Amino acid sequence: MSAPPPVTYFDDDYNWDDLSTPGNDFMKAVTSHPLPPSSDAAGPKTAWNGFHANHRSATFFRPKRYLSAEFPTAMAMLDSHSTPKIMLEVGCGAGAALFPVLAMSERARTESGSGRGGVKCVAIDVSETAVELLREQKEYEGVKEYVESHVCDIAREPAPVDESSVDVVFLIFCLSAIEPELFPSALKNLHASMKPGGLLCFRDYGKFDMTMLRFSPSQWRGGMTFQRGDGTLSSFFEVSEAERMFQEAGFVVEECKYALVENVNRKTGARLKRCFLHALLRKGMNE
Ligand SMILES: C[S@@+](CC[C@H](N)C(=O)[O-])C[C@H]1O[C@@H](n2cnc3c(N)ncnc32)[C@H](O)[C@@H]1O
Repeated sequence: MSAPPPVTYFDDDYNWDDLSTPGNDFMKAVTSHPLPPSSDAAGPKTAWNGFHANHRSATFFRPKRYLSAEFPTAMAMLDSHSTPKIMLEVGCGAGAALFPVLAMSERARTESGSGRGGVKCVAIDVSETAVELLREQKEYEGVKEYVESHVCDIAREPAPVDESSVDVVFLIFCLSAIEPELFPSALKNLHASMKPGGLLCFRDYGKFDMTMLRFSPSQWRGGMTFQRGDGTLSSFFEVSEAERMFQEAGFVVEECKYALVENVNRKTGARLKRCFLHALLRKGMNE
């Protein structure tokens, strides 16, 4: 299998300050709305099962082909030939992040499943429907010899791997889907799964992203968290708070910044300001 063509990706299209006036006005309106009493709704696992069941036929999340360009150090670690590598993909959904990453790893493409070591990948999701969907994708056929997929709630249980065994973790648009009070336990579970010196690649929604400003005050669940109509959660991350949270979970923060991407809608010409949080975290060598 040959490598797909490289993707050009720009993550500094505008200044984050452009978002602060509309964002702060939005937060003023949101926080003056009373928080709803905490409900004993079915919970995030059921909500995500419902979400994936409703998006079975379509690829709802577009393939994230930019990830290998955004995390070159992690890709180099996967492709270095010293030993077999273990990669953990958390909140894998139907594979919108997993398949592009594997396609861009030369070692995964050429050596995995060959008995020569290569890359072993463990993909997990809280939703059994997501895991079924992942296994139904046509790309799965080409990688199933070296990809294991499991149902696992990373906020409440350890990853299904040996402790201190994972070289590279991808946590892509997943932490935002977890209840905020469980962010520390999710991060600690991941830290425990990683080898000393291992890398965690983080990508998620940034504070005042366009999708945040589209929520209504009645969907606010406190802090920077909102709940969609289907019960799934979406949190938005601020750079310094995220950095503190990562450090408290035991990580060395190598990169933590907003990725600012302006998309132009071809039909309407509207300029859509997307704001993501990009971080690269390392487990210390002596842990
Ligand atoms: C927004 S989707 C992102 C999917 C994929 N990573 C991507 O980037 O396209 C969030 C995913 O995280 C999963 N998820 C939510 N909470 C989780 C948890 N506690 N443990 C593991 N996965 C979780 C959801 O089922 C869903 O597949």
